[in-house]
Order: sequence, then C-alpha cells, then structure tokens
Amino acid sequence: MVIDNSKRISILILHGPNLNLLGKRESKIYGSISLKEVNILLNKKALALRIRISIVQSNHEGTIVELIHQSLGQHQGILINAGAYTHTSLAIADACLAVEIPVVEVHLSNIYKREHIRHYSHIAPISIGQITGFGVNSYLLGLEALYDYLCQ
Ligand code: DQA
Repeated sequence: MVIDNSKRISILILHGPNLNLLGKRESKIYGSISLKEVNILLNKKALALRIRISIVQSNHEGTIVELIHQSLGQHQGILINAGAYTHTSLAIADACLAVEIPVVEVHLSNIYKREHIRHYSHIAPISIGQITGFGVNSYLLGLEALYDYLCQ
C-alpha cells in the first residue's frame, strides 16, 4: 500500500532560545534529557499519530518569526516552546496571529511556580491552550492535543 504523505497533517515544532542546551542547562529545572532525545520522542509520537512534523530550534527572535510566516500553506498547526521569548516577544505572538495557524504552547517547567516575570506569556492569549510543567511530556501531550484539535 502506498501512503500519500502529502495528505497527512503537518505540524511545525519550534524550540526557542537556549533549548539547544537541554540536558546541560539548569538540569534541576529542565531535567537531564537533551534536545536530541526530546526530538526522538516527538518523532515517535508523530509516527504513532500518523502526522508529519518539522522540528526547528532557534536562538533568534526574527528567525522564529520568519519560520512562523513560512508555515503558511505548509503546516496546519504550530507547537511552540518559545523559551524566554514567551515572556517578552509580542512579535512572535503577532506572527502567530498573522498566519492564523492554531498554536499550542508548551513548557518543560511550570512557569507559574517560578519567578513572577515568567508568569506572563504573550503566546498564551493567542493559543488554543498551554501545557506547562510536565518536562518532555509537555511536548508530547501538546502534540497530541494539537492533533486532536486539528482533527475536529
Ligand atoms: C521554558 C520556561 C521559560 O521561562 C524559560 O525562559 C525557558 C524554558 C520551559 O520550557 O520551561 O527557556 O520555556
């Protein structure tokens, strides 16, 4: 049987700044799992859900904005951990609004248990929902939730 990949739901997964250092970075907060391992688990989940995913990490706000723009006509959903840009970047939230692609926001740590400055997210008000505090499971749960939403 030939599987037509072009008919599958496609989701862009964006990792924001400093997430390339996962596993080495503040492991008490973010755990010991590396970004490569996170991406392996995401690929396994995508295979199980029979969806296509594209995974990109960037430390640059403008690059993230451009990747969101380029999603138009390419991806039906965006799963994003914008890292610290979550709390500062109106530009990333505006880009999501501009392309009108459903967004799910995820965080490894529970941002509401941390410093006050991390409690505000520019992305939360423009997202379908947010999953925060479950480590790598935040990504996996977020991907499943976005998939379910897109199937409705
Ligand atoms: C984070 C939480 C942010 O506050 C922080 O700046 C990050 C990671 C998380 O996944 O828990 O870089 O998005």
